[in-house]
Amino acid sequence: MRKNIVAGNWKMNMTYQDGLALVSEITNMVADETLGANVEVVIAPPAPFLHSIGKLLAEGGPIHLGAQNCHQKESGAFTGEVSAKQLQSVGVEYVILGHSERRQYFHEDDELLSQKLKAVLAAGLKPIFCIGETLETREADETFDFLAGQLKDGLFHLSNEEFAQVVIAYEPIWAIGTGRTATSQQAQEVHAFIREQIARAYDAEAALNTTILYGGSANAQNARELFGQPDVDGGLIGGASLKSRDFTEIIKSF
Ligand code: G3P
Repeated sequence: MRKNIVAGNWKMNMTYQDGLALVSEITNMVADETLGANVEVVIAPPAPFLHSIGKLLAEGGPIHLGAQNCHQKESGAFTGEVSAKQLQSVGVEYVILGHSERRQYFHEDDELLSQKLKAVLAAGLKPIFCIGETLETREADETFDFLAGQLKDGLFHLSNEEFAQVVIAYEPIWAIGTGRTATSQQAQEVHAFIREQIARAYDAEAALNTTILYGGSANAQNARELFGQPDVDGGLIGGASLKSRDFTEIIKSF
């Protein structure tokens, strides 16, 4: 079901103590704001903090717990890994999958991601599935073909019921961590294209009901214009999610 979401991807940042302090600050700021049902706030800390930070987020409160990845198996001898079922057991609701950093540094391909998608859905969690092109692809005017391929190979094997649980995050790789944000026109153009692809693969209702987030140097200054685009339903935020005031300003941008 389509909704406004602002999700903070902390990546490999924050100590335990700093993370607790940040969550307390954000929770207090968000609680003070009359955000109501207008936006769902998600925080995805590093895996070891999930349980303690999850306990800080009030049950049914304005902030939901996310994870940045999970293993594709339900359990077993996979040292260092965490399963979707284990994430669910500590209150995680969303799992980021297919982030460009996972695809680049950990060589995650469509086959592995399809297994992870199945594991996340089987655990009753919601995937935030990332797609996005490199600067070379964009400059070669191949963005839409590339993204169509990522959607087809990464997501469109899901059943209608499975796909209904998916949140999509468009994260142009050239905008991640660079300060070079996509313009609101560029974001809207791609988000509208993604919706068209969903309508073709599934139907118009699925396209209308899918939440599509933008990620890539979104911040307190540009969030309002980005989120004001008809097909942009919020953001997947990296750097700006590590600062309580900036993150809260982004949340208030709707
Ligand atoms: O997952 C969100 C992240 O990739 C965006 O990072 O720092 O450009 O907001 P940042």
